[in-house]
Amino acid sequence: MRLDFNENTVGCAPAVVRALRRALERDRLATYPEYETARQKLAGYYGVSPEQLVLTNGTDDAMKVICETFVEPGDVLLVPAPTFPIYQFFHEVAGGRTERVYYDENFRLPLKSILKALKKGVRWVAFANPNNPTGTMVPRRDLRVMLEAAPKTAFVVDEAYHEFSGETVIPWIKKYPNLIVTRTFSKAFGLAALRMGCIITNPETAELMRRGQNPFSANSVALAGAVAAIEHADYTLRFAAEIRAQRSELERWFAGQGIPCVPSRANFILAQFGPNSPEIGRRLRAKQILVRDWNYDPRLRGFLRITVGLGAQMRVLRRELTKLRGLMEIARGRRSKLVAPGERS
Ligand SMILES: Cc1ncc(COP(=O)(O)O)c(C=O)c1O
Repeated sequence: MRLDFNENTVGCAPAVVRALRRALERDRLATYPEYETARQKLAGYYGVSPEQLVLTNGTDDAMKVICETFVEPGDVLLVPAPTFPIYQFFHEVAGGRTERVYYDENFRLPLKSILKALKKGVRWVAFANPNNPTGTMVPRRDLRVMLEAAPKTAFVVDEAYHEFSGETVIPWIKKYPNLIVTRTFSKAFGLAALRMGCIITNPETAELMRRGQNPFSANSVALAGAVAAIEHADYTLRFAAEIRAQRSELERWFAGQGIPCVPSRANFILAQFGPNSPEIGRRLRAKQILVRDWNYDPRLRGFLRITVGLGAQMRVLRRELTKLRGLMEIARGRRSKLVAPGERS
């Protein structure tokens, strides 16, 4: 079981596979991608106009496009840490410099430090919302405060896990010209292999990005997959609802075992297994269960990040973790400052 990449653990809707088979017909493969129909359909799904949309080769490519369009050497990217590393990667490839602010020990956003840093001039701020690896959300009130405090700074809100949180700031784009949202088909929609994502922002900013973008970065098969995925979105939304239920169950189970975890709004949970966590990760791997070990980050010693799957998959996970209870004694003995599941604000 691959519970280390936050993917969909069972795959996309069967109707999407059928649409992909049709997209593989020889004459369709022979022609370059045509974007207009897909852009219209995706824009309709997100409730924006097609001019507000930039189609990309996944979120990674979206970040590359954002950096290539706006980042000059020496520009500052501000990120809360820990977070998804791709923002910093492309920012630094474009010659920028990264400033980090750290979540507190309860994984709460350090708003004051961010507001202080914004005063010094920041080109862009990147928020994964929910955040990877913590699964936490930026409080909406805080985001508003930041958007208003720094109207010349671009705020990129990466909503890769939106279907599991149920929250979006896409409607705010009308009010905040400095807001850029990204979405992907890699997570809940189960199409990570196709590399399909998009940027949603105001039409002027979107036009600048489209002009600088690789003209054919999203391929026809990915477009066909994305269109079919939104046409059958109910399938994915049912899957996401089931994952949310499994997430609550796993959080309760962790609480019952005395394993502290960060209350999550995504399809993964960051949990504190104590000093034996690398060994726990290795033992799970020996049982064909892959989880992500975060011990390489000094602020996340003892943490494993586990993707939430369907009930049967989570039962296997819990069964194997139960067998490793002896290794978790130390985690259980530790008093954790983490907010207990259910205490989420
Ligand atoms: C916060 C976040 N954004 C984006 C991605 C990747 O998205 P994509 O596959 O669309 O490049 C990930 C993958 O782990 C992620 O955690």
